[in-house]
Amino acid sequence: MNILLTTKKLQDIISTYELIIFKNINKIENNSILQNDTYFHKNKFYFNFENKKIYLCIKKTKNEDLKISFSNLARELSKYKIKSLKMNLVFNDDILNLQAITEGFLLGSYKFLKYSKKTENELEVSLSCFDYKEKYKELITILEETKIICDNVNFARDIVNTPPQDYYPNSMALDALNLSKIEDLSCTVYEETDLEKMGLNAINAVSKASVNKAKLIHLNYKPKDTQKTIVLLGKGVTYDTGGMSLKRGDGMVSMKCDKAGAITAMGIIKTISELKLPIEVHCVVGAVENMLDSSALVPGDVIKIGDKFVEITNTDAEGRLVLADCILYANQYIKDFDYIFDFATLTGASINCFGGYSSVIISENKKIIKDIQKSSKNSGELVSLMEINRYMQGRLKSDVADIVNSPANKNASSMIGAMFLKEFFEKKNIKKWLHFDMAGPAFRREIWGVNPYGASGYGIRLMTDYIKNLIDKEK
Ligand code: BES
Ligand code: ZN
Ligand code: ZN
Repeated sequence: MNILLTTKKLQDIISTYELIIFKNINKIENNSILQNDTYFHKNKFYFNFENKKIYLCIKKTKNEDLKISFSNLARELSKYKIKSLKMNLVFNDDILNLQAITEGFLLGSYKFLKYSKKTENELEVSLSCFDYKEKYKELITILEETKIICDNVNFARDIVNTPPQDYYPNSMALDALNLSKIEDLSCTVYEETDLEKMGLNAINAVSKASVNKAKLIHLNYKPKDTQKTIVLLGKGVTYDTGGMSLKRGDGMVSMKCDKAGAITAMGIIKTISELKLPIEVHCVVGAVENMLDSSALVPGDVIKIGDKFVEITNTDAEGRLVLADCILYANQYIKDFDYIFDFATLTGASINCFGGYSSVIISENKKIIKDIQKSSKNSGELVSLMEINRYMQGRLKSDVADIVNSPANKNASSMIGAMFLKEFFEKKNIKKWLHFDMAGPAFRREIWGVNPYGASGYGIRLMTDYIKNLIDKEK
């Protein structure tokens, strides 16, 4: 889809269809144009194929409502193979939010067609700001930035939707190396043997039964005028069978989604570097497959992670092992940073708790929580706050090692996941950390909001907003 902004008058734009926005549904239905012609009515859309007009009823013009309306519109337009559309950005003497409209169009029209005979509907949308010509420069900047963000969300969706036979740890390493073509962005890939030498055992332990060897990938965007440094860690399990604690039935079907945390982290660093923001970003992801054969990690095994012995009680709680190595890597090789976030499809419990449309966030820093909640409101990507409480301490106790990776008591296992990760941070970094358990919103088997069936690209819009707000504009 191509979105163009123009200062031309609407009637001077050559386009097959025109979009007209109404606030009141009764007004549309009593409208004489509609009464005279044949029109097709679906939900809030009125397609008048004779005079090539489409009427859209928008009751509320808040950003989220606009995004959802325009993403629904984009899906309808593609059904009817409509190729070009024009609309006035001005509505009721006010200018509509261009970022919301663009996100609606670009994110709503996304389809994963790599494994389908269907082809994409190439639509061109022309937006007129004739009545607000003086705002053109400001608006075109918003449009260009939003396009970059949405392209990256769709980039992440494409990767997460790619099935495990075509996307394994090496594919992630190749994608990461490809990003180092971007200015100021570098990439290092650590192989199995490198990890052994570095004393990072957890990722390799998860990978034991896979023919596709694990990698740890470190991307670094280092602009010249950097103001702050943030670290993004990501769980990149390209497929999660559960290992020897095998997943059953339907539980395994969508487990290609288990790489979403890593791809979100990569999508964020790609976005920030393409927007050329003055914030240094490190992205550290563990790319690994959780498979099983006679060489697999088994419940009862004990592995050493950093200075702790960890009793593996459940090989399906593999994400926290992968992230533990990423944390140790950050402790040792990224000396100075201001904030650290981890992104992971870590627990099914996070879906049970909050319904699956929001991620569970956990942090001991009130300011980071507040800022993330603000960016969640701005971006429309939802978060639900969970707190670790004092009575849960001790749940990770092991009778044979220092800690277990998953206690027998499965209550609040999203909290337990974060508690496990906390064990591996240096004390001074705990207050810099916020955990995203995004098992719910990363991948849903339904169309919701601006999101398609499958991967959503969750987290990129939220974190781009957050990182933008870190910039001191006076500098
Ligand atoms: N990858 C899963 C979590 C998951 C579940 C992601 C559903 C997306 C949708 C994770 O590795 C896992 O299996 N977690 C276990 C943890 C348990 C053993 C404490 C779970 O959620 O059952
Ligand atoms: Zn698992
Ligand atoms: Zn997993």
